[in-house]
Amino acid sequence: MVKHFLTLMDLEKNDARAIIRRAIELKAMLRDGIPHEIMKHKTMAMIFDKSSTRTRVSFETAMVQFGGHAIFLSPRDTQLGRGEPIEDSARVLSRMVDLVMIRTFEHEKIEKFAANSRVPVINALTDMYHPCQLLADVQTYVEHRGSIEGRKVAWIGDGNNMCHSYINAARQYDFKLHIAAPAGYEPDQQVLAEAGDCVSLSHDPKQAAEQADLVVTDVWASMGQEEEQREREKSFKGFQVDARLMACAKPDALFMHCLPAHRGEEVAAEVIDGPQSVVWDEAENRLHSQKALLEFLHNGY
Ligand code: CP
Ligand code: NVA
Repeated sequence: MVKHFLTLMDLEKNDARAIIRRAIELKAMLRDGIPHEIMKHKTMAMIFDKSSTRTRVSFETAMVQFGGHAIFLSPRDTQLGRGEPIEDSARVLSRMVDLVMIRTFEHEKIEKFAANSRVPVINALTDMYHPCQLLADVQTYVEHRGSIEGRKVAWIGDGNNMCHSYINAARQYDFKLHIAAPAGYEPDQQVLAEAGDCVSLSHDPKQAAEQADLVVTDVWASMGQEEEQREREKSFKGFQVDARLMACAKPDALFMHCLPAHRGEEVAAEVIDGPQSVVWDEAENRLHSQKALLEFLHNGY
C-alpha cells in the first residue's frame, strides 16, 4: 500500500511522533556534517498551483540533502495548466518519479491525484489543510518546551487550512486547542466535530489565549481570497495578536505563525519580532520535519 500524506490523520499516532523525533535527529546530523544521502538518485515532482517560498525551498533542499532531486512544475509551463486530466497526470508522473508534492486549491484535486498515483503524494497546502506546516510547528514546540501533550494552544483568527491542520494536530499530538475566530469565519464543522473535546471554539481571543502555552495565528486572507482582504480586515478587527493578548497567555508562552505574515494585521510587530516568537525556527524546521516525512513515506521506518 502506498502511503500518502494528505492530512495529518493519514498518520498513525506513533508515526506522527516518530517523524518529530527523526526530524530533530536529522537536524542534528545536518549540523554535525553527518551525511544522510538516503534517497540517492530519487526524484520528487513538486506541483505548485499557488505561490510559495518556504515550501518550495525546503522540499527542494531536502531532496538535494538526501542525494536526490526535485522537479518544480508550474501550471504555466506544464500540460497540467492546459487541462490534462489530473488522473492522467498522476498516472504518468508516478511512473517516473518516486514522490509527488502538490500545492493547490481544492482538496479534492489532491485526493484524486493520490487515488491514481503509484507513489506517495504529499499535501503541500490546499484550501482545506496544510499538514506539513504542523510537523514543523510541533517540532519547534518540542525543541523549545518539550512535549506538547496536554498543553493549551490558542488559535487566533481565521478558521482556515492552518486552523484545520491545528485541529487535526490536537487529535494526533494530544494537546488542547482553543480557537477564537470571528463570526462567519469559523473552521469547517465536520473537521471540528471529528476532533471532539480536544478542541473548543469561541469568538473571544482573550478567552482562547488565557493561560495558553502557545499562541498561533495566520493571515486574515489566504491565497485565493485576495479580493476579500478589505472585508476581512473589518471582520477580523480585535483579532490581532498583540502584546496585550500575549499577556493573557502564560509568561513563557511561545508565538508561532506559518508565514508570510502581515505586521499590523493579524500580528503586531512587537510580538512577531519579540522574545516569545519562534517563527524563524518554525520556518527552518520545515526542512527538517519534511525530510523526516519524505523518509517515512518513501522508505518507512
Ligand atoms: N508557510 C508556508 O507554507 O510558506 P510558503 O507559502 O512560503 O511555502
Ligand atoms: N492560510 C495561508 C497559509 C500560507 C502558508 C494560505 O493558505 O494562504
